[in-house]
Amino acid sequence: MYTKLFENGKLGNRTTQNRFVAQPMEGYDGFNEGQVSQLGIDKYIKLAKGGWGVIIAEAISVTSKSLSCKNGLIINKRNLDSFKKLVYEVKQANPDALLLFQLTHSGRNSNASFSEKTTVCPGNEEGRLLTTDEIQEVEDAFILASDLTEEAGADGIDFKCCHGYFGAEILRPENTRTDKWGGSWENRSRFYREAVSAMIAQKQNKDFIIGSRFSMYEGWRGGCGTTSPDSLIEDLSEMKMFIELMAKLGMDYANVSAGIPGRTSEITRPVHGAEWMYLNHLRYTRFAKDTLRNLGSSVQVIGSAYSILKEKAFPIAEEMIEKGYADYAGWGRQILADPLTPIKLQHGDPIDYCTACSGCTKMMGKQIHAGCMVYNPYYKKLWKDNL
Ligand SMILES: Cc1cc2nc3c(=O)[nH]c(=O)nc-3n(C[C@H](O)[C@H](O)[C@H](O)COP(=O)(O)O)c2cc1C
Repeated sequence: MYTKLFENGKLGNRTTQNRFVAQPMEGYDGFNEGQVSQLGIDKYIKLAKGGWGVIIAEAISVTSKSLSCKNGLIINKRNLDSFKKLVYEVKQANPDALLLFQLTHSGRNSNASFSEKTTVCPGNEEGRLLTTDEIQEVEDAFILASDLTEEAGADGIDFKCCHGYFGAEILRPENTRTDKWGGSWENRSRFYREAVSAMIAQKQNKDFIIGSRFSMYEGWRGGCGTTSPDSLIEDLSEMKMFIELMAKLGMDYANVSAGIPGRTSEITRPVHGAEWMYLNHLRYTRFAKDTLRNLGSSVQVIGSAYSILKEKAFPIAEEMIEKGYADYAGWGRQILADPLTPIKLQHGDPIDYCTACSGCTKMMGKQIHAGCMVYNPYYKKLWKDNL
């Protein structure tokens, strides 16, 4: 029925078994200073068995200094064996599923009770302003983390530039730094340009995938999708330049999101009462695809925020791909509600649809393991025990 969604795709030189993307979803279930726990590994095994063509593992920090969650994952040499185990077990479950690691630095989204809130924007009082040299260190950490991801055996990385984390903050017009990292677009995009160029140059395997998730519009004064530090009104001209930069750098995909969770949450994650926010995602995804098509670029485009639509998501995702407005469709909360969604859809089996109750988000708020408290007995009990 959904021929486009179940058609093979191409990310860089790699074939994907279909167009279903499991978007990164933090589980807050790392242990021993950032290693992947068996609980975390089991989550990804289920997704692999569930037939997701591309699985983007949740935000993994490139440094232990900037964490948004106490039990968050950290990629470094010390923790590498746990990441190798994750890749091994996912590939055992389904060798055709592509597994990417989302690499991040939490910046001002870090949690001050166990980490340090930092900012790149002068005048921002939420965190300590990083120095010129410290930003260079963050860049080096991203480059190293990409190398370690390849060493762990994953198929690629998702360089996180969305949702208000460091990678997004530095791109914003709000970044009025006077050093080489701020002010002009040329300077604000320097971090990204240099990091991606180095990541591509150091690849051992030419098929290693490099893409990015970004917020097309943050709904934030001076945020991504505006054009000056004091502007709130959407203007996508700089984001168009960002997408063009991705094409120029030779990236494999653009993963389109929007908003800043915790600040403009409904833009990222449509909820009841704000269901129609999903329409923005369709528009932003199409904008990215049109921009790339006009360049003659083969960078693949992934859309977001389909969970609120439940079963109606499938015909809309199919239409997006069929009309050439997207190449892939990504689900967030639905991967927690029912990790077996694609395979169940294929076989006509009943699917547990995300109820958009925000339970997984509330679990994050309490810094406990986050999952689906509606359908998964483990998380249901955990939530009750922590009330
Ligand atoms: C509990 C939870 C954890 C999330 N973790 C991440 C993450 O690690 N990285 C990321 O880019 N987005 C993260 N997101 C955002 C989702 O990937 C997704 O963009 C959002 O939920 C909207 O998609 P949906 O409507 O299909 O759920 C998270 C969202 C939730 C609710």
